[in-house]
Amino acid sequence: MSDNVPIPFARPWITDGDRQAVLEVLNGHILTHGPQCKSFEQEFAEFLGGGHCVSVSSCMAALHLAYLHFGIGPGDEVIVPAQTHAATVHAVEWVGATPVFVDCDSRTGNLTAAAISSELTPRTKAISVVHFAGIACDMPPIVDLAQRHGLRIIEDCAIALGARHQGRHVALFGDAGCFSFYPVKHMTTGEGGMFVTRHEAVASAVARLRAFGVDRTHSERTVPGMYDVPSLGLNYRMSEIQAALGRSQLRRMPDVLTQRASLFNQYRTLLGDLPQVRLIDTDAPESRSSHYCVSAVFEGEYAGRRNDVVTKLNASGIGTSIYYPQPVPRMTYYRNKYGFLPGAHPQATRISDQSVALPLGMHMTGRDVDRVVAMLKQSLAETDSGKGTGR
Ligand SMILES: Cc1ncc(COP(=O)(O)O)c(C=O)c1O
Repeated sequence: MSDNVPIPFARPWITDGDRQAVLEVLNGHILTHGPQCKSFEQEFAEFLGGGHCVSVSSCMAALHLAYLHFGIGPGDEVIVPAQTHAATVHAVEWVGATPVFVDCDSRTGNLTAAAISSELTPRTKAISVVHFAGIACDMPPIVDLAQRHGLRIIEDCAIALGARHQGRHVALFGDAGCFSFYPVKHMTTGEGGMFVTRHEAVASAVARLRAFGVDRTHSERTVPGMYDVPSLGLNYRMSEIQAALGRSQLRRMPDVLTQRASLFNQYRTLLGDLPQVRLIDTDAPESRSSHYCVSAVFEGEYAGRRNDVVTKLNASGIGTSIYYPQPVPRMTYYRNKYGFLPGAHPQATRISDQSVALPLGMHMTGRDVDRVVAMLKQSLAETDSGKGTGR
């Protein structure tokens, strides 16, 4: 993009091939319960390198289905990160279980086995991990901890499509992995998500739960329209239109991951001379990030200047976001229900209050990254010299 063209924070990447895929579904007669969802589920598992997939209406739906399926409910505690999207925790609330918030690692924003283990009680039934900013959590010690205590692991992989630990895709370590295809994610179906499990029986049970609890799909019915409902269920299905778009997008994921990694590395190099701006990042050789966003945390004398810098970047046409704007336990619903002690989750709070997420995605070139970094440095220098307005 040229020097005065706005750089949005993110933009869905829709090609003619995507449009054609959607049109083909619309020109046919099957808009739901059809072959597109089946194929998307199979192709998604191939992309991950294993697992059984169930397409759903959103990541939140996948998370909700996971807790319902594993029978987690009132009286149970679930370990959740304090630094995440509200959806991670809402899913726990909707089944009536109690979220137990745990602070994150300062560098990666991820939960660690050590932090989790200090919050376990006899009522803990599950651990919810989020691969923050696309950085894979260090899963083996978390899996080990869960096995020793008989706990389920629900992985929130909403922003971690393509993230791997020791060569294995995230979502394939725990009992369930949940992905999002919201428009600004690595790939999109408009709204949509995927439930992933290593166990075929779990996948078929969740597939029934996702579709009213009916006992047979359209293709399994010998008499059209004839089915039974042996259990309670929801309607969390994905449509054929969405699945066709997802299949088309999924084919480009290798390019998406390469481009995101390259832009992220450029940011890392260019921001390397600013010790008071630290990227949420990892140098663990066994971890491959999906590079969902460039979350830059302002430290030291810059700590209180995030909002001024955001204002300046936005005024110059550079889009930004914040991942995530508050530690979840400080959000009004959770604060009112469980209370929030100041200082309770210092790293989650630091990331929420002192970070900005810079633009990253297929809509950008290396020149755009140069421009964002130059503008960021200029904004910091201006606030540094007293021209800022404070938070
Ligand atoms: C970590 C995380 N989990 C869950 C969600 C919710 O995803 P969806 O909109 O598909 O329900 C998001 C959305 O941004 C997210 O970032």
